[in-house]
Amino acid sequence: MAIIETKQLTKHYILGKKKVVVGLENVDLEINQGEIFGILGPNGSGKTTCLKLLLGILFPTSGEANIMGKPPYDIEMKQHVGFLPENPYYYDYLNGPELLRFYASLYSMDSDKADKRIEELLELVELKDAKRLALRHYSKGMLERIGLAASLINDPEILILDEPTTGLDPIGCRDTRNLLLRLKEQGKTILLSSHFLSEVERVCDRIAIFHRGHLLATGTLDGLNKQYQAENLEDLFVKTICAFDTEFAAKTGERK
Ligand SMILES: Nc1ncnc2c1ncn2[C@@H]1O[C@H](COP(=O)(O)OP(=O)(O)O)[C@@H](O)[C@H]1O
Ligand SMILES: [Mg+2]
Repeated sequence: MAIIETKQLTKHYILGKKKVVVGLENVDLEINQGEIFGILGPNGSGKTTCLKLLLGILFPTSGEANIMGKPPYDIEMKQHVGFLPENPYYYDYLNGPELLRFYASLYSMDSDKADKRIEELLELVELKDAKRLALRHYSKGMLERIGLAASLINDPEILILDEPTTGLDPIGCRDTRNLLLRLKEQGKTILLSSHFLSEVERVCDRIAIFHRGHLLATGTLDGLNKQYQAENLEDLFVKTICAFDTEFAAKTGERK
């Protein structure tokens, strides 16, 4: 059964009387429990828009989004979801445990429970040895890992991660990838976005390709490669996107 679902989900940004930007257009997605699902697409293809609509941070122009059968504004459902935004900003004079304690307070966790959870999370993201270090001295990889720990504070069943490996060096990418696989083993469902092809290829069970707000293709990588007679993800990406652009140009040309 789908644990995350969108039906004809659409977001148009209105930028004035005549200017409308398509953020997302009629997107149908089904993400199953326990899988790592990757939304893949170039910059501006609608990845963040889709995730924010699911989380209720943006309102749709039309269509629906559900998590665990509940709409994005359902407070009880949100207790089961963790989110790591694209460019999180942290108060960087705090150290790791202090930041996590702040997040725990947002969930009204009692302090014993919070302390135990913080220890577990620092172990999981391998930041136990950096407990006293202020976040302003963290590397990008460490910041990404503490962000992941913060998104896990309430032990959510579902994790939504916007571009979790952008800006990381190969070691940072590998660490994040291993961490995601460990979380999958714990039974979590992970929805991530990325424009980083090799990352997605290595970690995702299924992918969706977005372009100009449209969902172009979805499935397992092997299945999609067969369907589009592509040799690999890069080839698949180029093929689906070029085919869409050719059609798009033909349509807009006709209208002129
Ligand atoms: N707040 C906003 N106002 C106007 N346009 C926006 C806004 N947010 C995103 N967009 C536009 O919507 C499209 C999709 O953006 P986004 O979802 O951020 O893509 P991605 O995350 O794939 O880079 C882009 O054309 C972007 O410029
Ligand atoms: Mg984005």
